[in-house]
Amino acid sequence: MSRHTDKPFSQACENNRGPIFSVLEPLLKDKSLVLEIGSGTGQHAVWFAKQLPHLVWQTSDLPQNHSGILQWLEADPSPNLREPIALDMLANSLPEAGYDCIYSANTAHIMPWEAVVNMLAEVGAQLLSNGLFCLYGPMSYSGVIAPASNIQFDQNLRQQAAHMGIREFHDINRLTLDAGLVLLDDHAMPANNRLLVWQKI
Ligand SMILES: C[S@@+](CC[C@H](N)C(=O)[O-])C[C@H]1O[C@@H](n2cnc3c(N)ncnc32)[C@H](O)[C@@H]1O
Repeated sequence: MSRHTDKPFSQACENNRGPIFSVLEPLLKDKSLVLEIGSGTGQHAVWFAKQLPHLVWQTSDLPQNHSGILQWLEADPSPNLREPIALDMLANSLPEAGYDCIYSANTAHIMPWEAVVNMLAEVGAQLLSNGLFCLYGPMSYSGVIAPASNIQFDQNLRQQAAHMGIREFHDINRLTLDAGLVLLDDHAMPANNRLLVWQKI
């Protein structure tokens, strides 16, 4: 994340928002309340909410990111965009708010594994029946990280902080199953990312 004019700015968000939205748009047609975990700069929230006026988009993140998210919300407000709530998946439960979709991008490889475990359990606990959980980011499959650029990315993450690293799809999918979610789709996305979609049963 870098600074762009006066707001925090992520070039990755600008690049991936279109492909992510292409997958999300049909899935969100009948949804009314989306929780985004780890909104980061807030760029996805601002762009997605504007194109989905029939639903409410609730941002969230660690408190240190709230001022940046608020800058994006103030610069480009939408009536269906909610100011961030403080959520640390290492420590917090998700609010009981009737979410029919929970979305999170590029968070599972950044937060500690214990936080990923808690996030998946909480998603299962707080999603409404038939609600969707959409998780975007790089994944390994049966222990294999591919291609070489993702292996390099994983090594860079682990050098930056021992708790970070690309997660294993099968570990995540087992935990979501334990939490009462079934995998609907695993979309290949640009730049060697995945967009995984589960439904609460
Ligand atoms: C690489 S950024 C991704 C931000 C944004 N979703 C995007 O796609 O650009 C990782 C995000 O995970 C959040 N994060 C890290 N640890 C977390 C935790 N324990 N609980 C909740 N969010 C966390 C960070 O604050 C940051 O916003």
